[in-house]
Amino acid sequence: MEQFPASFLWGAATAAVQVEGAYKENGKSLSIWDVAKPKRIKNGEDCHFGADHYHHMKEDVALMKKLGLKSYRFSLSWPRIMPKEGEINPLGLKFYSDLIDELLKNGIEPMVTLYHWDLPIWVEKKGGWLSKKVVKYFAAYVLAAVEAFSDRVSYWITLNEPQCFIMNAYLVGAHAPFKHNFLALAKLTRNTIQAHFAAVKIIREKAKKAPKIGLAMACGAFTPEKRNDPAEIEKARQETFDSLSGALANKWWGDPLILGKPVTVFKVFKIQVKDLKDFLPLDFIGLNIYQSLNSASWDSTGEKKKIGAAETYLHWGLTPEVMYYAPKFMYERYHLPVLITENGYADNDFPCRDGKIHDPQRSDFITCYLSELKKAIDDKIPVFGYTYWSLMDNFEWAEGYSPRFGLIYIDYQTGERTLKDSALFYSSIIASNGKDI
Ligand code: NOJ
Repeated sequence: MEQFPASFLWGAATAAVQVEGAYKENGKSLSIWDVAKPKRIKNGEDCHFGADHYHHMKEDVALMKKLGLKSYRFSLSWPRIMPKEGEINPLGLKFYSDLIDELLKNGIEPMVTLYHWDLPIWVEKKGGWLSKKVVKYFAAYVLAAVEAFSDRVSYWITLNEPQCFIMNAYLVGAHAPFKHNFLALAKLTRNTIQAHFAAVKIIREKAKKAPKIGLAMACGAFTPEKRNDPAEIEKARQETFDSLSGALANKWWGDPLILGKPVTVFKVFKIQVKDLKDFLPLDFIGLNIYQSLNSASWDSTGEKKKIGAAETYLHWGLTPEVMYYAPKFMYERYHLPVLITENGYADNDFPCRDGKIHDPQRSDFITCYLSELKKAIDDKIPVFGYTYWSLMDNFEWAEGYSPRFGLIYIDYQTGERTLKDSALFYSSIIASNGKDI
């Protein structure tokens, strides 16, 4: 394949908590991330500024247009839209409605993530993801969003990375609400699955424009040591779904949410087939892909990292081949078209003496990962879009603001935006539809 498919959706992504700021403006109530204690976040930082996107929305869309983006993935803030039980905030809806209009005016396809981790405090107080009630609260919020935006939005992503907002938050305790509650895993899993099913049902039944519904998985895959060795490939596939880290990342969520099937170990947790009775099929699977599980530092079955191995600012391995094998393994198991909902490179970029942000490593990262994606498409894996994480530097959860993933540099003192070299590079890839990859 010389170029990517003609309709390929070249995009970039953000999430509300990470970029919006305006954390208590115009009727928004607080989320579990707004109240995170300073000791939970590096350097005692907080998410209150984000990238101040709320006040720079039109400027940010103009930059997207300048880069030639075809799509923009963003999340809706639940507490901005529904600040209290049963109460819809018209100004919250208006912010997203204006954003959607601005995107469409500039020929950019909006892709909406419904839950990117900002549980409202009022829901947390009623038990949050630990309580069954979350399903009905989430459904009410999704309904409000679908009624307000589905005349203009086609792409809906129900949940972003349940692996993180459940497992990192309730088992590892690294994300809000910072708990260690392994015994609650069954309850948490059941409530998450049912909230997702409820959202799919509402979108299917109520959307005004024919919807395309997906889910964004924190997708890890093992990769074979030798590329062309069938036995090695099968071993990597098997580890991707059946090793401890592979099963928790992929099968635990993928099988029930995408296939409507329980995984065997659900029996131990007393999650039953009847808990999955409201399953509805999706239209696509969103994959957030960063590094292979072979090299992931958190993976006990992985190899020991080689001294001096290439890695990002967050110590994530540079393993472009995962961008071939993850879509391949996920497609071959789940049989849904694939959207790369995230892929990106963190560094501690800074303006150089000439005022520009020179980030050649990021451009190289994008090239290497995209060239593997191109091979996957050549091998008939139906991938219809690539979404770089992130459009702009932002609040990286418990890691604070130091890791910068953006194509756009943010000055956190002034809110000033500067396109990094990699933004211009990505823009040239889009312009040629990936011809030189
Ligand atoms: C996963 C998450 O969806 C996003 O919020 C996060 O910033 C990036 N990946 C990088 O860690």
